[in-house]
Amino acid sequence: MKTTGIARAHTNIALIKYWGKKDKALFLPMNSSLSLTLEAFYTDTKITLDKTLEKDEFYLNNVLQQEAEIQKISKFLDLFRIPAKETRFARIESYNFVPTAAGLASSASAFAALAGAMHQAMGWDLSRSELSTYARRGSGSSTRSLFGGFVEWNQGTNSEDSMAIPIDDASWDIGMLIVVVNGAAKKISSRVGMEQTVATSPFYPAWVESAKTDLEEIKIAIQEKNFTRMGEIAEFNGMKMHATMLASQPPFCYFEPDSLIAQQQVVYLREVLGIPAYYTMDAGPNIKVLCKASDLDKVRDHFEQYFASEKLITSHPGEAMRTLTEEEWQE
Ligand code: DP6
Repeated sequence: MKTTGIARAHTNIALIKYWGKKDKALFLPMNSSLSLTLEAFYTDTKITLDKTLEKDEFYLNNVLQQEAEIQKISKFLDLFRIPAKETRFARIESYNFVPTAAGLASSASAFAALAGAMHQAMGWDLSRSELSTYARRGSGSSTRSLFGGFVEWNQGTNSEDSMAIPIDDASWDIGMLIVVVNGAAKKISSRVGMEQTVATSPFYPAWVESAKTDLEEIKIAIQEKNFTRMGEIAEFNGMKMHATMLASQPPFCYFEPDSLIAQQQVVYLREVLGIPAYYTMDAGPNIKVLCKASDLDKVRDHFEQYFASEKLITSHPGEAMRTLTEEEWQE
């Protein structure tokens, strides 16, 4: 017997960052975080549970993946299979929709789509927040990709309540420009980077403390639709996260020279040209510029003076994880 599930999930960019785990096995974070889901980047995944399969198979963009990758996915699917006593193996087919040259393939959309597809294949009926606790155990940031717009990952106190909560659908003139400084895979993964920071950075306790305040304040700014305040808090929070890494032992840093050029241009946009824009950066050198959707063309045009146009990707807010029909999957 075969059962299938198909889902699409979009990636998200944190405005209040998740950086550090208090429980590595369960992916419980040291602090709550908040993100914006993006329309431009997503993953489609189909899962077929099939009695005739002798092991799990995982194809990404039509390429059969290596054993190590398959094991990660198998372990993730077992979170669903074991409690349900489901013994069938699965064929997993995934497509990452990421504009060419971006190199931004993200574990956030991947595990959220996987969770969505598996949830459907198993015939379960969890709420999105409940399902986010499963996605979390594939990759922390994927917790937030279960919802669209602005999403909080409330750290909670245990594996059942460390979940995503929708905050606002971001349908009020919100946009993002991604400046691809370097599309190559990062040297230090976020998983390793955050672990090293928690273990060695004397700035880390200050990060955890101030992230709490940032989260409370950004939620107020979002509720009031105060773009400037929201951008200021996001920029402040992102740079504080990077400061913890500069102070870890050994120190490490995701900045590249072009990251600084992009940051300076964001400041130029708002201070000289009067266009509200704020930057944030994750565990890599690319810059994400938070701006108004109505300013996206202007912001992009400005950056074209400094970066090749294929390195500039604009996005509107994205929607929640959703299941796809067989017809939508075929397209
Ligand atoms: C800097 O979710 O990739 O992007 O939970 O170990 O898989 P794991 O880490 P991951 O870390 C994301 C870190 C970040 C900030 C964020 O997205 O909140």
